[in-house]
Amino acid sequence: MTRITTRSRSVEGKVVLITGAASGMGRATAFLFADEGAKVAVTDLGAERVAAVVDRIRAAGGTAHGVVLDVTDAEAIDAAVAEIRAELGPVDVVVNNAGVGAGSAVDNPGFEDEWFKAFEVMVTPHQRIIRACLDDLKASGEGRIVNIASTEGIGAQRNMAPYTSAKHGVIGLTRALAIDLGVHGITVNAICPGPIVTGMTEAIPDDMRDTFARRRTALRRYGDPEEVAHMTLSLALPAASFITGAIIPVDGGLTAKND
Ligand code: NAI
Repeated sequence: MTRITTRSRSVEGKVVLITGAASGMGRATAFLFADEGAKVAVTDLGAERVAAVVDRIRAAGGTAHGVVLDVTDAEAIDAAVAEIRAELGPVDVVVNNAGVGAGSAVDNPGFEDEWFKAFEVMVTPHQRIIRACLDDLKASGEGRIVNIASTEGIGAQRNMAPYTSAKHGVIGLTRALAIDLGVHGITVNAICPGPIVTGMTEAIPDDMRDTFARRRTALRRYGDPEEVAHMTLSLALPAASFITGAIIPVDGGLTAKND
């Protein structure tokens, strides 16, 4: 049939920069955008890990370019964005996804180190990457920023203050930049994944995972990285043009559950 509605659900040809794209949710997001015809900039630590994702996308007939990028390195961010622009074109979509575990009891001597690690990897780079891509995002007319926060950005678990504070920071940054960048038609949103089976959680023994999921989530299970990637894609669509400053749980009902 001839389409009746006007807004596009296609990211075909869009250039998408994803951090932490060699594992877990970042990799699932890279694969999904590639499946949808986007040009994917796969960035992460480790040349072989990055190449493996790029090779998988190319083998499936998609378009990807890999850049080894440590997001804590400010100069490397500028160089990576310049390389991506030269290889794939100006960036339309930024997915700030890279992350690390950073937990500590507040009276632990290692608290300070965990605190700085959390902010160095999961807050500071987000604004740097956004600023490095800002001219592209403005020119795009449909610039999209998706920050991967956590349900720890909404509530708190015991002995997680560094991680929790950083993820609350991601939500603050998301809201603040949604306000500042709205004038350019750029949307800025955050996703709050609940428990997802990824590199970050695979070391947790199965029985502990199971107990946690049954007790804490409505769906009584961990999520799959692809289930988060689909929300990221949705927020990146041209059709998602009136969604900004939103904080969206993808958590199997964890934040809704109160019993
Ligand atoms: P993961 O460990 O599978 O992937 C994280 C990726 O970030 C890795 O590939 C890692 O190399 C990369 N990374 C770490 N430090 C980096 C640095 N300095 N520079 C560049 N890349 C770096 O874990 P997952 O779960 O896929 O993590 C993705 C995001 O989701 C993170 O921001 C994490 O905090 C968040 N998250 C994860 C949840 C889970 O249950 N797995 C729940 C809520 C949020």
